[in-house]
Amino acid sequence: MKILIAYVSFSGVTKKVALRLKDMLNADEEEIVPLSVYTSKDLDWNDKYSRSSIEMNDDKSRPGFHPLKLNPLDYDIIFIGYPIWWYVEPRLIDSFLDYYDLKGKIIIPFATSGGSGIAGSLTHLRNLYPSLNIKEGLLLNDHIDENKIRALMR
Ligand SMILES: Cc1cc2nc3c(=O)[nH]c(=O)nc-3n(C[C@H](O)[C@H](O)[C@H](O)COP(=O)(O)O)c2cc1C
Repeated sequence: MKILIAYVSFSGVTKKVALRLKDMLNADEEEIVPLSVYTSKDLDWNDKYSRSSIEMNDDKSRPGFHPLKLNPLDYDIIFIGYPIWWYVEPRLIDSFLDYYDLKGKIIIPFATSGGSGIAGSLTHLRNLYPSLNIKEGLLLNDHIDENKIRALMR
């Protein structure tokens, strides 16, 4: 089974987890890079007019990203990593899932957060993409339980 770890990370926390998963699972990894990089101002959740606030207030927002160098369609299992934003996935993840048709793939979300769980994002993703096989995700704020991860891959 070929495994890809695709992720977004705005301050490096999710990226660190993605790189550990890559080593653990002997997977390929690539960051989903936004066309326009998010500044710290863009990430200010206290400002309701910041870019992240505006995007997250609009369920239809789909910020652009650079297509990956790797082709996700070449993989059987795709881990999708992101920070929790306002209890769900950043819209950039929805842009990614709109762009690539991952029907038939095993999709395993993972997230980091300041404390919120991953459940809100799973509900949101499954509503948006009912035809995708989206497994129970994992919040990986602390340690990575390899057994749990391998169980999701089956
Ligand atoms: C715009 C924005 C919204 C956020 N919303 C939440 C949230 O709802 N719950 C939470 O626990 N953390 C929230 N966070 C914190 C991030 O999920 C957390 O810092 C994450 O580990 C950052 O990962 P990254 O460095 O890979 O971007 C938010 C951060 C930002 C920038």
